[in-house]
Amino acid sequence: MAKGLQKAKIVITGKNGQLAKEFTRILSKMGIEHFAFKKEELDITNVDRVWSVMKEIKPDFVINCAAYNMVDKAEEERDMAFLVNAKAVKTLAEVCSESGAKLVHYSTDYVFGGEKSKPYIEEDNPSPINYYGKTKLLGEMYLKENLNNFLLFRVSWLYGKGRNNFIYKFLNWAKENRELKVSENEVSVPTWAKRVAEVSLKAMEQGLKGLYHLTNSGYASRYEFALKIKEILNLQNSIKPVNSSIFNLKARRPEFSAMDNSKISTELNFSIPHWDYDIKEYLRELK
Ligand SMILES: NC(=O)c1ccc[n+]([C@@H]2O[C@H](COP(=O)([O-])OP(=O)(O)OC[C@H]3O[C@@H](n4cnc5c(N)ncnc54)[C@H](OP(=O)(O)O)[C@@H]3O)[C@@H](O)[C@H]2O)c1
Repeated sequence: MAKGLQKAKIVITGKNGQLAKEFTRILSKMGIEHFAFKKEELDITNVDRVWSVMKEIKPDFVINCAAYNMVDKAEEERDMAFLVNAKAVKTLAEVCSESGAKLVHYSTDYVFGGEKSKPYIEEDNPSPINYYGKTKLLGEMYLKENLNNFLLFRVSWLYGKGRNNFIYKFLNWAKENRELKVSENEVSVPTWAKRVAEVSLKAMEQGLKGLYHLTNSGYASRYEFALKIKEILNLQNSIKPVNSSIFNLKARRPEFSAMDNSKISTELNFSIPHWDYDIKEYLRELK
């Protein structure tokens, strides 16, 4: 690890989330000074609190793992989704611009509308089709307008230690139902939070800036994702491919929102493992 990052002071928001947990675990292991705050300790929508914490700690990096991630609920709780995913990012960008800290922020494949048939690259135009995606895109815009020194990573279908992910939900359904219906018309990249944290730290260490798509390699439908989990864990459930319209979800999802990770892989000279490799690693760790 470069001397710069080893000596850095890092603030992490959204401490109880799956990505933040990976950062705190890795940074503790590496002995890097970091201050992780859960929502109750640092609500990023509280402008005064954000300014006072940053003034007190004077971090070199702020890693914003806090987000409003409930895609369906966001259609109803629009104000809250906007405050957390957009307005608070503006506050963080303003604070970092004033203090000189680098802001590392996360966005989503749901900024895309799903009209492409091959993975989205950073130059593609976003066109979100749900409110969550719209708020995350606004967050990206506020970040770019208010700060130069940032790393903005778009990630997709994140899983890790936590409940807000497909693997956790799928394993719970599998305990209760013999036959499971999983959509075959949603395609993206299942991505391990641990891998995102590791690659983010490499990018921070090497002084990268700007927008990157950060996912595992390859892509899959939810159905293929489920089949892979079943295969690895040798589950006896039967899995039926269905069209997602049968679930009557409040928010629309893009049919194809896989992203291409070539830009970050090339700049870091690092090949990010295929999604099915990392799922095996994750499930092995989970056991
Ligand atoms: N999960 C995915 O599949 C996925 C996909 C694409 C992009 N992303 C993006 O990746 C990043 C990391 O996601 P994740 O999966 O690690 O999220 P997560 O597990 O849902 O964690 C988000 C954390 O943010 C906290 N939080 C919510 N509102 C807050 C506020 N006002 N102030 C401070 N903390 C607040 C939450 O606390 P409470 O739980 O107490 O509310 C939660 O601990 C996010 O930017 C997310 O939008 C995630």
